[in-house]
Amino acid sequence: MKSIASAPGKIILFGEHFVVHGTKAILAAIDKRVTVTSSFTENKTIRVNSKLGTLDVPISSSYKEVKNEFRPFVYLANKMIDSNQNANGLEITIDSDIPIGVGLGSSSACCVAAAGSIFGLFKEWSSEEILKISIEAEKTIFPDTSGADCTVCTYGGMIEYPSIEKIGNTFDLNLLIVNSMIPHNTKNSVEKVNKFKENNEERFSQLCDLETKLIDEVITAMKNNDTTTFGLKISENQKYLEEIQVSNETINGMISSLKEISLGTKITGAGDGGCVIALIKDEDMDKVPALLPKDKEYFSAKIDTKGVVWKIEK
Ligand code: PMV
Repeated sequence: MKSIASAPGKIILFGEHFVVHGTKAILAAIDKRVTVTSSFTENKTIRVNSKLGTLDVPISSSYKEVKNEFRPFVYLANKMIDSNQNANGLEITIDSDIPIGVGLGSSSACCVAAAGSIFGLFKEWSSEEILKISIEAEKTIFPDTSGADCTVCTYGGMIEYPSIEKIGNTFDLNLLIVNSMIPHNTKNSVEKVNKFKENNEERFSQLCDLETKLIDEVITAMKNNDTTTFGLKISENQKYLEEIQVSNETINGMISSLKEISLGTKITGAGDGGCVIALIKDEDMDKVPALLPKDKEYFSAKIDTKGVVWKIEK
């Protein structure tokens, strides 16, 4: 028997970093997915197969003994085996079309899909239960996670986190995602922002208030079908991210390359590399290749509405 779950990647439209400090954020699941397949084995081992390599460890191993990228899977496998005496060993296979380490939710989608797949070996779980376990798994690599990424990967659609209610009228957004091809480390970027906060307490608190106000204005702009304001708010949010020092020359260069056709461009995710999102009018999409440096990858993102899905194959 195989338990197969898949979950979408995500973009953060507004509020990354500030969300770690309690503000709201707007996120959307995107049409790139990770699929995790789990099955029992007789081997008394936890085996993980992924593009990043293969791990094979005794079931008694702790997640702390394995490399970062395998920790969530070993954590989930241990948790499942501990609560189910009948489980000998487990094989977990990950297939993903989400680029890794560039802020598109690869790690969160893996945690959500793995929670659904591994725990699905026993019974069907609610989205709420999958989300809870996936956040625990993500904390094995990134203890300070806001939980926003796993939430949108679980429920899909566009949400104003911490609410899980889907934002209904997401007018026809043409969101271009451009990959700087510089991998980032979310934990390091979040720590850097913590330092900024410590050294600039008053300004950081003002920025959190500004972010909250900006998100309210974005919601109104969406209700009014006001793409121009939506774009301006993207650029305004980028300025806040620059102020907390998570942008860099490469990102700023990419943003200025798209200036003449973008209604607004900003980092999505932790920054210090990773991806930017740009709101581009349909008629200008064909100008993109000439404007971007040749070494950058890009694609148009469609919003995923399904979130995590799960099935059993006999
Ligand atoms: O770049 P990513 O996908 O790891 O996104 C991180 C988003 C942060 O707000 C910086 C952290 C968090 O846990 O919300």
